[in-house]
Amino acid sequence: MNRRKFLKNTTLSTAGLAVGSTLISCAEDSKIEKPIITTKAVASFPLVIATWHVENATAEAYKVLEKGGNALDAVEAGCKIEEANEKGQSVGKGGLPDRDGNVTLDACIMDKNGNCGSVVYLQNVTHAISVARHVMEKTPHVMLAGKGAEKYAYELGFKKENLLTEASKEAWEKWKVEAKYKPIINIENHDTIGMIAIDKNGDISGACTTSGLAYKMGGRVGDSPIIGAGLFIDNEVGGCVATGLGEEVVKTVGSFLVVELMRQGKSPQEACEEAIGRIVNKPNSNYKNFQVGYVAVNKQGETGCFGIHQWFSMTKYQNGVNEQIQSEFMVKA
Ligand code: GLY
Repeated sequence: MNRRKFLKNTTLSTAGLAVGSTLISCAEDSKIEKPIITTKAVASFPLVIATWHVENATAEAYKVLEKGGNALDAVEAGCKIEEANEKGQSVGKGGLPDRDGNVTLDACIMDKNGNCGSVVYLQNVTHAISVARHVMEKTPHVMLAGKGAEKYAYELGFKKENLLTEASKEAWEKWKVEAKYKPIINIENHDTIGMIAIDKNGDISGACTTSGLAYKMGGRVGDSPIIGAGLFIDNEVGGCVATGLGEEVVKTVGSFLVVELMRQGKSPQEACEEAIGRIVNKPNSNYKNFQVGYVAVNKQGETGCFGIHQWFSMTKYQNGVNEQIQSEFMVKA
């Protein structure tokens, strides 16, 4: 089983030695210039990373980047692949509905200049990520919700669609028999799709799209459309996207936390691990019963990913190689 094949995450696809220098004070009146050796990532751009196993989505994004397109266009194009994929029951068309049978989408996008846009609780429109981009680029706002977001999408020319596929309707009907309102650890099914790209210019953008927690309460919104929680990009530092139980990500402002930890000098891997630790180590954390995962990249192109539980993965496309990388995880037993 592909998912069970453990591929150790290597944070650098290529690394080189860079020689720096520093002035070491040896005596009050003498200073010797002494070379020090530091390892530095040799950036190889373009680069795309995404949550879960979404090679078609990263391939679409990479196609844009290879042609010299920008990171923002790339992440939108990549996310649209999963939104249109009816087999994916956690994103876009075919997403699992809320308790009442309504498919509601959350998405956000953020560019290299720190601009962002999002839609929450959007119904009947497949490409939530594109509507979010329009909110960012064409309105004075950051976030549109519910009916307002839907109306805006129609004004833009998006078509009205029934997002509840037969397969998702069937799953919901089955769920209704017992109607257990309980988050499920997401091990075999992918969850929110978050994507970050670095284009040939070295500029970073990110996007995040989801139908949210299956069988959620009507009106529930998770982390994915909330800038700083589901996604955060700082073009000088790097970016992070989250997947899993959104409530836990929101409570720790997860993606912003990862980027800030990178700003303080942590590698993307260390930053993802610390952010997961913040969730797990909270007093009375119920972490055994839910999954959260982060993927992150820094400005140098180093990547990291980490989850609470096993079977979280990241897809990475760099140097012409599109690969699934099995994530390390915190709960070993
Ligand atoms: N991470 C998706 C959600 O909780 O809605």
